[in-house]
Amino acid sequence: MTVMDETRAPVLAAPRPPQQRMSLRQFLRTVRDSSIATFPAEAYEKDIVARKLLWRRTFIVNEPQAIKHILLDNSANYVRADIARRLLEPGLGRGLLTSEGERWRRHRRIMAPSFDHRSILGYAPIMTEIASGLADQWDRLPEAAEVDVAAAMMHATLHIISRAMFSSDSDDIVDTVEYGVAGYQNSVRPGLLDLLGAPDWLARLASPKRGRGFLSDFDKAIDRLLAARGHAGDAQPKDLLARLIAARDEETGGGMTAQEVRDQVVTIFMAGHETTALALTWTWYLLSQHPAAEARLHAELDAVLAGRPARHEDLARLPYARMVIEESMRLYPPAHTISRQAIGDDAVLGHRIPAGSAVLIAPWLLHRKPAIWENPERFDPQRFSPERSAARHRFAYIPFGAGPRICIGMAFAMTEAVLILATIAQRYRLRLKAGHPVEPQGLITLRPRYGMRMQLERRH
Ligand code: HEM
Repeated sequence: MTVMDETRAPVLAAPRPPQQRMSLRQFLRTVRDSSIATFPAEAYEKDIVARKLLWRRTFIVNEPQAIKHILLDNSANYVRADIARRLLEPGLGRGLLTSEGERWRRHRRIMAPSFDHRSILGYAPIMTEIASGLADQWDRLPEAAEVDVAAAMMHATLHIISRAMFSSDSDDIVDTVEYGVAGYQNSVRPGLLDLLGAPDWLARLASPKRGRGFLSDFDKAIDRLLAARGHAGDAQPKDLLARLIAARDEETGGGMTAQEVRDQVVTIFMAGHETTALALTWTWYLLSQHPAAEARLHAELDAVLAGRPARHEDLARLPYARMVIEESMRLYPPAHTISRQAIGDDAVLGHRIPAGSAVLIAPWLLHRKPAIWENPERFDPQRFSPERSAARHRFAYIPFGAGPRICIGMAFAMTEAVLILATIAQRYRLRLKAGHPVEPQGLITLRPRYGMRMQLERRH
């Protein structure tokens, strides 16, 4: 049992960096299993680490000013790496995550209003309702029942994005997506050809079935829903799908084709539920290891909500709940690595970055860099007090990325995470099951390898 108080912090789950340089075989095996386990100890401390895989150069950049240069100031020179596109495109088609240039700019402009403050206000009641529904479900379980919180959070956020997207038409889609996303992520691990940046046709030849199949039921369900919308006329509900169909580019007046809408819908589903579920899962884990922070959260919730579910209007009065989520995404950023590819030569921190190089920016490393964070391994939500956040470099903390390709769902995700945390933590304390192994695994997202088995303890 770990001792849990403010002076003796528990040891949190994280892979041990490799002690020696890995052979190519070891590296490939490890990167396919969990890419964060390939980061050497020096990558946590240094501003930039160059590595070479056969002839391909990769730079791990871990310094806020240099990250600003890549993601913002010179972002035109850094496209989303083709490895990311290769892993995602077979399933997602050409949505926001997988497109570049003018196509991306046009889609981003068209979609931005669907994620603005007013739209989020419209989705918040769904978030509260689903979170309360989950707690009601738990009420029907025996005392100290054990649940896989990772699966429960995934289910909840999937319900939320489904309802936000499709209103009431969505219920049958949830199981289909759950199966599809897990299978997809397990099946699309990077191979040597991807890591070397080999041409697409060669990579396709080597793994022709990549990712196929897992999402086909989901695709069919989406097509059915889209077709039904086509006939609904004025009876359209005001959901995210309706907004995407009706959205127009303010510069050109054009909208999106049916295929484009389909690709955005799949992208939003994939990008928009698992990440938030993981942020919450890691938060429950961290709270279970830090009773003082948990007690402080409970005190805030009891004072502000006094037993009722959290609503959007409460958010401003729940600063500690937000700080807990922020600190949790520092230690366990759901999008653990952001990858880019240089299209022209550049120079970063005195290194020449030749065109074609891969550039990795890993929130996993940046958020644990000792030069930025005191006692980086320690969970301390106070780091995110307004004063301390303001004192930090803006690019020192980037769970949602930064620059023009910053997560479009950031406000959606933060609202959702805080509302779910607040609503459930009011009613339940979650205890990590004794002996349950906790291990972060860096696939496309940062998952708990063995799920998160926890016992439910009713608070009142
Ligand atoms: C805690 C939850 C979330 C995290 C940690 C997260 C993280 C990220 C990150 C790091 C990126 C940028 C990747 C890059 O620069 O290469 C991104 C992009 C994106 N995210 Fe999120 N995200 C979250 C929730 C959401 C939600 C709720 C939605 C939609 C409802 C969403 C939709 C997207 C989309 C569409 C993009 C691509 C944006 C573009 O390229 O223009 N995300 N996300």
